Amino acid sequence: MFVASTYGKKEMFTETTPDMVIYHANELVTMNTIFGAPRRGVNMSELAIINDGGVAIKDDRIIFVGSTEELESKYTLGRVTKQIDASNKLVTPGFVDPHTHIIFDGTREHEFSLKLKGKSYLEILQEGGGILKTVRETRSASLEKLVENGKTILNRMLSHGTTTLETKSGYGLTTESEIKMLTVAKILNQEHPIDIVSTFLGAHAIPPEYDNRTDDYVDLIISEMIPNVVKKNLAEFCDVFCEKGIFSIDQTRKILTTAKKYGLIPQIHIDEIIDTNGAMLAAEIKAVQVGHLIKSNSDGLRAMEDADVIATLLPGTPFCLMSNEYAPAREMIDLGIPIALATDLNPNCWIESMQMIIALACYNMHLSPAEALTASTINSASALQRQDEIGSLEVGKKADLIIFDVPNYNFLPYKLGVNLVSKVIKNGKVIVSNN
Ligand code: NIG
Ligand code: FE
Repeated sequence: MFVASTYGKKEMFTETTPDMVIYHANELVTMNTIFGAPRRGVNMSELAIINDGGVAIKDDRIIFVGSTEELESKYTLGRVTKQIDASNKLVTPGFVDPHTHIIFDGTREHEFSLKLKGKSYLEILQEGGGILKTVRETRSASLEKLVENGKTILNRMLSHGTTTLETKSGYGLTTESEIKMLTVAKILNQEHPIDIVSTFLGAHAIPPEYDNRTDDYVDLIISEMIPNVVKKNLAEFCDVFCEKGIFSIDQTRKILTTAKKYGLIPQIHIDEIIDTNGAMLAAEIKAVQVGHLIKSNSDGLRAMEDADVIATLLPGTPFCLMSNEYAPAREMIDLGIPIALATDLNPNCWIESMQMIIALACYNMHLSPAEALTASTINSASALQRQDEIGSLEVGKKADLIIFDVPNYNFLPYKLGVNLVSKVIKNGKVIVSNN
């Protein structure tokens, strides 16, 4: 480090020339982790905003975050190849979507009319539709077709600001086709700019060949699927759809206990349709994050808070199921449970935009815009155990940022139904530019 007064010229004490600078950001939401990662309670409203903010990037890393004035005194901006004036704009960390199902073939738009007629999600499934329709189509699709489908979805997610996401298997339900899905996730991670975290979800539904033999299918998951997935190093997390009529609490416990022994990190779909005491199991098994929680009871929620489980709320799902019942987000925030938000993108809930999820969370679960933004960045990074790498704009972290064509973060749920992204910077490069 040089001392400015000794070397009068600015460039003498500049450590390095950035590849890119962003300056005059009207609001630079840093999400600095001094307020916690994940954030809970009132800290979910602490965005660590810098007005007239600046960021410097070198290679794929953030090397400076501060005011534009400090940026200008630290670097000779004229030397920087890529300069972005973010006047009147909002700059945030890239969105992290911690719960999706993006790998599948086929579509389910015909279910729309069934839902309008009042058919429930489980009724559609019991009649061989829903997940089981997608399983039939995904089983018979080639790996190449699934990669192509995935890229189409990822491109649109990226253009809406998502820079990292989690995705799951679960539409194969045989060892071979579950491995095919996870191989697709691996290829997508290598070939697409979005970073992808993989989850094994063999326990997503009971395949038709195991009708009325759920315990036998659980044995297959435990004795064959998990060991193979781990041997091929295809997943980091293991998930289960724990629901009445799908996988019970005991079956879920059995699967996740085995998964943990193999080094997979547990997650669960809990209490979406019926309260099966999933929140209590989440605490017992020490799941890192659990999804849905629409019906979770208060005892279970308190246990989750004690066990530091993150609640990943998926407001797109009840919205697409035409339900008015959403997860009790305010109660969770009052209890001190860290909340993350995710799209849950799947053929029943085809939402590719975290901006849409932020809006649904604010309008239907009464999150404030600040809480919803926290839940979509630093808390969702924590749900994937990536809080030291992404989710906030801090020196040393990955340069994944969004520049929005709005002056402040309150616009995110306010200006509704359009893509507000101006630019997406991923790994230090502008890869989306909407104007
Ligand atoms: O999280 N509820 C279980 N699984 C997914 C939906 C999968 C599907 O309907 O294809 C979910 O909502
Ligand atoms: Fe899901």
